[in-house]
Amino acid sequence: MKGFRLAVAAALCVACTTGTPKYEGPVYLDPNADIEARIDDALSRMTLDEKIKIIHAQSKFSSAGVPRLGIPELWTTDGPHGIRTEVLWDEWEQAGWTNDSIVAFPALTALAATWNRDMSALYGKSIGEEARYREKDVLLGPGVNIYRTPLNGRNFEYMGEDPYLSGQMVVPYVQEVQKNGVAVCVKHYALNNEETYRHTTDVDLDDRALYEIYLPAFKAAVQEGGAWSIMGSYNLYRGQHVCYNKRLIMDILKGEWGFDGAVISDWGGVHETDAAVKNGLDLEFGTWTDGLTMGATNGYDAYFLAKPYRDGILNGTYTTKELDEKCRRVLRLIFRTAMNPDKPFGAINSEAHYAAARQIGGEGIVLLKNDGAVLPVAASARKILVVGENAVKMMTVGGGSSSLKVQHEISPLDGIRARAGKDVEVRYARGYVGDVSGSYNGVTSGQDLSESRSAQELIDEAVSLAKESDLVVFIGGLNKSNNQDCEGTDRLAMDLPYGQDAVISALAAATPNLVVSLISGNAVAMPWVDQVPAILQAWYLGSEAGNAFADVLFGDVNPSGKLPFTFPKKLSDSPAHQEGMTFPTRGKYFYQEGIYVGYRWFDEKEIEPLFAFGHGLSYTQFEYGEAKLDKTSMNENGTITLRVTVRNAGDRAGAEVVQLYIADAESSLPRPKKELKGFQKVYLAPGESAEVAFTIGADALSFYDPALPGWKAESGRFEALVGAASDDIRTQVAFELK
Ligand code: BGC
Repeated sequence: MKGFRLAVAAALCVACTTGTPKYEGPVYLDPNADIEARIDDALSRMTLDEKIKIIHAQSKFSSAGVPRLGIPELWTTDGPHGIRTEVLWDEWEQAGWTNDSIVAFPALTALAATWNRDMSALYGKSIGEEARYREKDVLLGPGVNIYRTPLNGRNFEYMGEDPYLSGQMVVPYVQEVQKNGVAVCVKHYALNNEETYRHTTDVDLDDRALYEIYLPAFKAAVQEGGAWSIMGSYNLYRGQHVCYNKRLIMDILKGEWGFDGAVISDWGGVHETDAAVKNGLDLEFGTWTDGLTMGATNGYDAYFLAKPYRDGILNGTYTTKELDEKCRRVLRLIFRTAMNPDKPFGAINSEAHYAAARQIGGEGIVLLKNDGAVLPVAASARKILVVGENAVKMMTVGGGSSSLKVQHEISPLDGIRARAGKDVEVRYARGYVGDVSGSYNGVTSGQDLSESRSAQELIDEAVSLAKESDLVVFIGGLNKSNNQDCEGTDRLAMDLPYGQDAVISALAAATPNLVVSLISGNAVAMPWVDQVPAILQAWYLGSEAGNAFADVLFGDVNPSGKLPFTFPKKLSDSPAHQEGMTFPTRGKYFYQEGIYVGYRWFDEKEIEPLFAFGHGLSYTQFEYGEAKLDKTSMNENGTITLRVTVRNAGDRAGAEVVQLYIADAESSLPRPKKELKGFQKVYLAPGESAEVAFTIGADALSFYDPALPGWKAESGRFEALVGAASDDIRTQVAFELK
């Protein structure tokens, strides 16, 4: 089929070889014609059946083109951490190809933790190239659902709790992917904040929370990133499924934001024809029809946007107005991707992609605690003990649709061994048994993690080896199994599973030189936090996980990651788990905490978190000068520039994420104590200083006023707070909006 695409392109160029290039074919095939003109022309040539065919799936991951007109089919792929293995035409099971192994990039929580827009651009460029090489047209990702609760099984695929951070980080990813002629499909729009009952949860919340917290990252992806497609989520909002929710799709996405791309359903997210026709769904995927379960023949024709819709048009229930609009959007998507004359060829498993994965991973690791400078590993360390299942377990297999088939995955233990070299003895003790399984839809890790010893025997072994070691590195956390970090299920508790707390406490009692490293996409409770000198949050880092981990452990990379979400001390401290709230919820669900999500809640209620949003240490220290403004007041159309000097006061090169929060001193509606409105990562040599500048405009001062309805900046006094974390403000300065 792809060879056929090239043949069409070649035929078009024949005219170019004879002097003055004059294209004489149909407009829709003219690569130089305006896309809208191409759409009009293609549409005018299509029959009713051809139109119906292109708005729903023809296989698990593709939708039909118009073969008679040479318009190719559209191929989608998961997303968002690497390009998914090929699956069978009608089934999730992998197809068994041997040329579809790829690079796994770090999970999106790790990307968000870099707080570095350049890393997001590098990520988008790299994964976009892999998608293009695998001949995919639509990448199902990235995900920007807000981190509302630490129990959401899918948080690892998202970019944290703050709308500004996730909005800033998603834009470069989108832009760079799409430079490859591959569309992103931003997911899961919207309010998809839990997994267990994701098909029946019916979310309601006040408009301020909707506009201020849950929508900004999607809006940024659409308006600033220029996303070509978006995925409607499984849940309901105010009684209507989101894939065809009138308010979210028609009024906000396509109305207020002017989205011109295609709305694609999440796989199996469509349950009726009527609303799907009327409320802006453009492409239906993954519907679990009887036809599909009984055999492929009629499956796709039975989709809600297939035969039932066609019948409705023929019997006069619907005109073709909505159909033509859906086809326009699908054709626009095809012209932007599959028929994009400028698309490059991409690349896969390249050195550059592995280097990107390693760099992003290293920048995303967060040093949560480092008392007594246990890290980086001292040159004098001769015996290192590594403990824990996650030091060896492959993490790219599992977790749901983001599961991957990788060319390789370096485990933390392998990474440590490779970096430590032959003069350092690196020993390993299992410590605990988590989940020994390792397969997803036919892709297996090939690891045998079976273990017959008792929990106590494993602890005893680890403790006795710890006593003989210079440094102990515990590597645990969660994994990609059900009820851990995994699509389709939520976590059952915030505690570390598999008895890990007991292992950590036993190790802490045995040695003062203990580093606890957590591989997870979620916050976990740490009852042992005061017994342990050093803690690293190391996420899921993909193919280069072990190398990126060792880079930070040994200090080749100075940690500069910052938490993209709050770590509560206990679950009940989290706003989604306050008294009176149930989780997960099968049916109607009101977000009682409103705009007070993440640090906004902890600030408001004066609850001390375990580790705050924006927190992350370095092996060096940074000193902040005084924040200075170029003027002390501005009007609604003006801006103020804030400058602050940051100095690397230690003896190692390192990077600091300078964070700007705004506090509204007087407001007609309650506002959070402070909100992130700017950040900049600066790289500084020892002793070096840099000036960081932030431009503050009215958008940074605004809130959503439901009475308008709309955004509004109220005159009065504001504070600009600059610091190294949401709980570590180093300097602040006041100004006025007139
Ligand atoms: C997930 C999507 C994914 C799709 C296709 C769904 O179950 O929610 O994120 O892109 O499957 O695999």
